[in-house]
Amino acid sequence: MSNTSNHVLNFGAGPAKIPESVLKKAQKEFLDINGTGMSVMELSHRSKPFGAILQKTKDNLAKLMDIPSDYSILFMQGGATTQFAAIFLNLVAKKQDELIKLGKEKEEIVVDYFVTGAWSNKAVQEAERLAPAVQSNPIRVNRVIDVKQKYGKFGTIPPPSEWNLTDPTKHHVAYVYYCDNETIHGVEFPFVPKVNETVPLVADVSSNFLSRPIHVPKYAVVYGGAQKNLGPAGVTIVVVRNDMLVDVNVGPVRPLMLDFKTAADNNSMYNTPPTFAIYMVGLTLEWLIEEKGGLKGIEQANNSKARKLYELIDQSKLYKSPVDPHCRSHMNVVFRLPTEDLEKEFLAGAEKLHMHQLKGHRSVGGIRASIYNAMPEDDVDRLIEYMIEFEKKHSP
Ligand SMILES: Cc1ncc(COP(=O)(O)O)c(C=O)c1O
Repeated sequence: MSNTSNHVLNFGAGPAKIPESVLKKAQKEFLDINGTGMSVMELSHRSKPFGAILQKTKDNLAKLMDIPSDYSILFMQGGATTQFAAIFLNLVAKKQDELIKLGKEKEEIVVDYFVTGAWSNKAVQEAERLAPAVQSNPIRVNRVIDVKQKYGKFGTIPPPSEWNLTDPTKHHVAYVYYCDNETIHGVEFPFVPKVNETVPLVADVSSNFLSRPIHVPKYAVVYGGAQKNLGPAGVTIVVVRNDMLVDVNVGPVRPLMLDFKTAADNNSMYNTPPTFAIYMVGLTLEWLIEEKGGLKGIEQANNSKARKLYELIDQSKLYKSPVDPHCRSHMNVVFRLPTEDLEKEFLAGAEKLHMHQLKGHRSVGGIRASIYNAMPEDDVDRLIEYMIEFEKKHSP
């Protein structure tokens, strides 16, 4: 947030920076939303004014992402982590539904996971945890590739020749899952993994949601938490193709709150939705459309910010990227310095210049500059200036 004397640069990975004009609009409307005399937080979720906010948010998301009419937009709770379970339960249910109709309801179902960083690793572990509890069918969880198992660390996306995708002509594949941008390791898919078109493709886009155009028809489910690119924590957006919606009584037992069809049938209001978070997402979408030129505009801005940072890192003798160039994240730029002491000094110096939350995730260390949609290029330029100065003082 800026004021004239003390401009703070927030490089946090999430909850992350929110565009200043969005915060100001929310502040302006805080006590009186649309002439109601009430804060949006005080409105019934079933009231007309909130209904209008929800609908506009859905319409703007559909417009921005070019979401076809046979998809539903769901506002769910429990963060992206809850979706690790929800995806498994709903999509296994969908496959079981198909198998029941074919008279093959006892046959094995396979779920395929790309494991390219900490978040897809958590997702596959959740599937492995839940699989034995499915009573109707044996479920096999297959790692298409596990980069850490194969290479000893995360930091690359191996080519298709190294993938072990399950053949859908020989097995019942419920879905293929991947995490488009691994927030902790700074690894982003530079392409959409090519899978058999009969197999539902699922992407976790939590940390690069709306950072560039995306071709929704390639996916059965695209989902992400809001707290990086879309607003505050508390709401998770799930864009799901309607043929994935299965009666809650079919397939593995799942809580109603995790059931996609229940959410879709109730317009995300089976229970009280996180109204304030949805409102903030709505404001952020308006900002993207009105001030940033939609997804094409924001993609250009994001590319420019990331390119500058990686160019500096690659030219430097001090900073080192642990990620292969072809799959470096445009959102979370991770880098190392030669020693942890130097990294500490780097962070302390940055703090003095009001550059905050640059510390890498506690599981990996190092530095991480998260430069989401809301991060202005000027702030990235300030970071670059600091990095250049720091290197001059500490050349190895
Ligand atoms: C890519 C990705 N997936 C999932 C999650 C988990 O999100 P949540 O904390 O909202 O459950 C995160 C959180 O940072 C993330 O970056």
